[in-house]
Amino acid sequence: MLLLLATYCSFAQNQPAREQVLIDADWHFAFGHPYDTGKDFNHGTAYFSYLSKTGNGDGPAAKTFDDRAWRLLNLPHDWAVEQSFSESASYSHGFKTVGKGFAERSVGWYRKTINIPETDLGRIITLKFDGVFRNSKVWFNGHFLGTEESGYNSFEYDVTAYVNYGGENTIAVRADASMEEGWFYEGAGIYRHVYVKKTNPLHVAANGTYVTSVVNDGFANITVQASIENKGNYKGVIEIVQTVLDPSGKTVATVTEKIIAPDFYKTALVTSTIKINNPALWDLEMPNLYKLVTQIKQGGKVADTYETTFGIRTIRFDAEEGFFLNGKRLKLQGTNNHQDHAGVGTAMPDELQYFRIQKLKEMGSNAYRCSHHPPTPELLEACDKLGMLVIDETRLMGINYHLDDVKRMIERDRNHPSIICWSVGNEEWAIEGNITGERITEVMQGFAKSIDPTRPVTVGVSSGFRSGISSVVEIMGYNYMGNGDIDAHRNQFKQQPGMGTEEGSTFATRGIYFTDDAKHYQSAYDKKPRPSFYSIEEGWKFYAARPYLAGMFIWTGFDYRGEPTPYGWPSVTSYFGMMDVCGFPKDNVYYLKSWWGKEPVLHILPHWNRTGMEGKEIDVWVYSNCDEVELFLNKKSLGKKKMGQYGHLEWKVAYTPGTLEAIGYKNGKKQLTAIQKTTNKTQNIKLTPHKEVLTKANDLAIVTVEVTDKNGLHVPTADDEITFTLKGGGRIIGVGNGNPTSLEKDKFIDAINLIAITDLQEQALTSAALPQQLPSYPENNWKAAFKDRDYKNLAQAYAYKGQFNVENISKNDVMSFYYQKIGVEAAVFINGIKLSADKTDNQKYNIAAHILKQGPNTLHIVATPIHKIKEWDVINTNPGIIQIVTPAEEWKRKLFNGYAQIIVQADGSGKEINLMATGACIKQQIITINVK
Ligand code: GAL
Repeated sequence: MLLLLATYCSFAQNQPAREQVLIDADWHFAFGHPYDTGKDFNHGTAYFSYLSKTGNGDGPAAKTFDDRAWRLLNLPHDWAVEQSFSESASYSHGFKTVGKGFAERSVGWYRKTINIPETDLGRIITLKFDGVFRNSKVWFNGHFLGTEESGYNSFEYDVTAYVNYGGENTIAVRADASMEEGWFYEGAGIYRHVYVKKTNPLHVAANGTYVTSVVNDGFANITVQASIENKGNYKGVIEIVQTVLDPSGKTVATVTEKIIAPDFYKTALVTSTIKINNPALWDLEMPNLYKLVTQIKQGGKVADTYETTFGIRTIRFDAEEGFFLNGKRLKLQGTNNHQDHAGVGTAMPDELQYFRIQKLKEMGSNAYRCSHHPPTPELLEACDKLGMLVIDETRLMGINYHLDDVKRMIERDRNHPSIICWSVGNEEWAIEGNITGERITEVMQGFAKSIDPTRPVTVGVSSGFRSGISSVVEIMGYNYMGNGDIDAHRNQFKQQPGMGTEEGSTFATRGIYFTDDAKHYQSAYDKKPRPSFYSIEEGWKFYAARPYLAGMFIWTGFDYRGEPTPYGWPSVTSYFGMMDVCGFPKDNVYYLKSWWGKEPVLHILPHWNRTGMEGKEIDVWVYSNCDEVELFLNKKSLGKKKMGQYGHLEWKVAYTPGTLEAIGYKNGKKQLTAIQKTTNKTQNIKLTPHKEVLTKANDLAIVTVEVTDKNGLHVPTADDEITFTLKGGGRIIGVGNGNPTSLEKDKFIDAINLIAITDLQEQALTSAALPQQLPSYPENNWKAAFKDRDYKNLAQAYAYKGQFNVENISKNDVMSFYYQKIGVEAAVFINGIKLSADKTDNQKYNIAAHILKQGPNTLHIVATPIHKIKEWDVINTNPGIIQIVTPAEEWKRKLFNGYAQIIVQADGSGKEINLMATGACIKQQIITINVK
């Protein structure tokens, strides 16, 4: 896929000045090992390691490594979400069997081959990673490029010098998720996009533009700083042409600066100022986005074209009056969120970012805190495009590498109009209240402002208000009213604006209206979760009543894996969300919609399928922004009540099946009705994609799965297991249901088991003829293979014998031996039976089911030897690998309180996707999703 930049450069015929090619497709993947080098494909064991000699990546890091037996997959990929659960796995990471104690599933290798044409010679070729979790090492054609420790930084490597122009090039990535960076689910692997970037030697540096604006009456002054990098030898004058396109794509201004090209491997900062009349401001309702096109001209020809999306808007935090966007006061109605979704974990396709931001907006939320790390770029793009304010946060506080992380976050993200604040930390208990915290904050804050003076800095502080960090931070971030006296802090620091960076840490299970600790159910009525914590309503009333507080960010918008407070195993996701991990609303969403949103709202809880409760009193709550609400049970009025500001209404109702109806009045007039009706038993499956038409390959249909009764009513207690089959141009990429205790699979994928050959032995043969049947070689002639081999006196042929162990073979398993040449010609036998080579790959041998045995198996290879041409030639001694593929089961998921979600992705192979859902004793359902 070609991103960006249609401008053609006249340097090479028909070659764009800059290309950025997404290379998410077709990566080979296998698990390595953090410390057992044998299980890590012997990586790092070469006599001259990749740290000793240039280009010496070994094992999978070598250009020529044979990865045919590895799994083929597309990015973004999170291997953690594919694993099973275990009580002994990490609580904070949702008990997935990765990380501490699960070494076999903690290191992942990725390899991909890309072609780079000869016509690219002379261009700068860069690999661009949006993020890899974590501790990634990257090699290109065996050349070690570097280590990126954090799973949250974006990074790039210039590979120009190592490229095989006009041929294949190999990228190898080793990610090690043994360590955790956060105390929440973080996924594992290349969970964000990867690109190859091609530019001229003279180009705009990575993240090399910075656009700021000053808005005046009727016009805005835009300042653009462009960082121009020269990785070539051109020495003359260059022109930097800055063109601004308005939201409709019309050019509204162009300015040109002339400079002398920076020296070899140096950069120059070029500042341009541009006046824009009657700017269309970026705001929440009309998120107007401008585009800046930066061109570098060298001798009149375009050497680079670089696009920057930006918005024109003003922001201001005021110590008395809170936050202002474009001069208008606006209360921040925010949520905290982690990057994690049902079915896919952290590997969230772009459309899912939009889906989630859209859901938050529908709830009336206008702000998003990236807790507790920089997000993927697409999240910020979604916030820019949909109109959502953002606090962008760095991972850890400190003044060493931490500052580099801050710099990279700000330089990458500072053109996003959605970002209103940088957060440089969260709940650093060791330093919050003391002088060390004060010092670190002062450095980080000053440093952040040196890169972006247009935005303030905050830290989420949970204890020690009035001292340490909170005494110096520019915008005080209060984490929870229960943690200290907010008013007292404010009275002491009158000049310091503040906001609730975390608030309302409540527990709720979607669709459950009673707490049952044995079942790990938390009732969904909004209540005080712990004595020192506050309900959503209490939290909002507090913040709404204080103009000096800019607003609050609820912990959290969505449930996420890990932190299943107040429970532990077998709860694997949190209970904090206003929505569950799928984005299905808990009732709190309607409370927030009532007071945060603009639409009239009327919502009754609980549902009215309460068999067994007949005659018993049930708490009925109504969330609404109507003035008055009257409640009826089976047409009998239970009374009309007045709604208090930011409140809710309650009735005690003796349960009888039937219809609970609420009528909402505004200014004395009937405005809305809402009902909860007792349903009949389940009859039909209903599938509803979040959109009907998918527009491109990789686009998503996020499908709501529910069951209805004979009258088409949603059954809120249904827990049927639904099985899915997909045909046509797409694939299923994940399933979920929002049940915190569900240990069902998120993904149904083929399991690939790779089994190494051990104990390879040899004996020399006197004839070069390869046998059709395995001869019986004398047992006492076997000796370790290739040991002290005299390459000057090779035998005619060698017989090799190796072992491998197979456990748990199942009926549908597909078995192969991926042979790697240890001879010129070879005959391969397993358990004495000769194998024939695959039709498409003559070094792959298919193993029929009857050949393999449970337990130990024997491989024989009879082969004529490979001669060394030069004495230092390295001859392969690895005979290859056994691959056992266990095909995935059918995709399925139980409904949880009436709902499940299935995520379908277009794969570009067809114009129609047919999704079929079946369940026991319910009518099957098929829907068609079109792909344009
Ligand atoms: C806060 C913390 C969050 C989350 C939350 C759970 O203290 O900042 O990341 O852990 O508690 O209650």
